[in-house]
Amino acid sequence: MTDDRPARPPFGSPADLSPPALELRSVVKRYGRGPAEVRALTDVSICVRPGELVAIMGPSGCGKSTLLHLAGGLEEPDAGTVLVDGHDLAGMGITERAKLRRRRVGYVLQRLNLVPSLTALENVMLPLELDGIAGRHARERAGAALAGVGITEGLDRYPDDLSGGQQQRVAVARATVTERGLLLADEPTGALDTLTGDALIELLAGLPERHGTAVVLVTHEPRYASWADRVVFLRDGRIVDESSPAPTGGSGADRAECGDGAR
Ligand SMILES: Nc1ncnc2c1ncn2[C@@H]1O[C@H](COP(=O)(O)OP(=O)(O)OP(=O)(O)O)[C@@H](O)[C@H]1O
Ligand SMILES: [Mg+2]
Repeated sequence: MTDDRPARPPFGSPADLSPPALELRSVVKRYGRGPAEVRALTDVSICVRPGELVAIMGPSGCGKSTLLHLAGGLEEPDAGTVLVDGHDLAGMGITERAKLRRRRVGYVLQRLNLVPSLTALENVMLPLELDGIAGRHARERAGAALAGVGITEGLDRYPDDLSGGQQQRVAVARATVTERGLLLADEPTGALDTLTGDALIELLAGLPERHGTAVVLVTHEPRYASWADRVVFLRDGRIVDESSPAPTGGSGADRAECGDGAR
C-alpha cells in the first residue's frame, strides 16, 4: 500500500473553517459501580476535523469501542462533553439527537448492527429510505455500494446467512451509501482477508477527500493506521500518545478551534 492517501483539507479551506466533525472534551466513562467499577475512559479529549482520517489504536479493553459509542451518541459520558458538528449531544433532546445521528453519523460497529430481518440489500437501502430515497433508485444505489465492497451476489440473503466478513462489508456499504459528515468504524477489517481488508480501507480512506467525511477508524493494523492523518493511542482508557498531523500550509489562525486539550 503506498502513501497516496488523500490529503487533509488545507488550513483556511471551507472544510477547515467549519466546526470540528467530532470533539470529545475531558470525557470520562465508567461501567459498573463500587468494587466492580471499570474506568473505560479517563479524561479523553480528541478533536476530528471535517475531512480528517483519525486512527485509534491500543490493546484490547483500552476503551476504543467505548470512545466510538460515545462519539456517536450511542452511550453517554459520566463526565465531559461530546460535540458532533459543534452540537453538544448532552444539550439536545432525544429526537434532536436521533436526527443528528441519522443525518450526520455512519457507524460500522464491532458488534455488527445489521437488521436481522432485512436482506443484505435491504439493510443498505435502509438509510436511503430514511432519507426519502425509495424504490428503484434506492435499490440501484444500495447495489452499487455493495459492489463497492465486493458484494455482488447474495444480496437477498439475511445477515445470519452471511459470513462475518460479508456482514462486515454490508455494514460498511450501509454506513457509506449516504454521505455522512462523520463515519465511525470499529475494526471494520477484523474478519477480512488481507486483500479484501485493503480494499475496504482504501474505500474508507477515500471518503475524506470525496465527501469531506471525517473518519474515525479503530484498527489493530499499523499499516492501516499509517493511512490516517493522525493516530491516537489509548491505554487503560487514557490517551497515551498521539502522532501529530503534518502541517499542510498556512498559519492556521482562522481554524475553527477545538476546546482545551483537544486537537
Ligand atoms: N457495557 C459494558 N459493561 C461493563 N463493562 C464494559 C462495557 N463495555 C465495555 N466495558 C469495559 O470497558 C473497558 C473498555 O472496553 P472497550 O470495549 O471500549 O474496549 P476496546 O478497546 O474496544 O477492546 P477490543 O479491542 O477488545 O474491542 C473494558 O474493560 C470492558 O470490559
Ligand atoms: Mg472494541
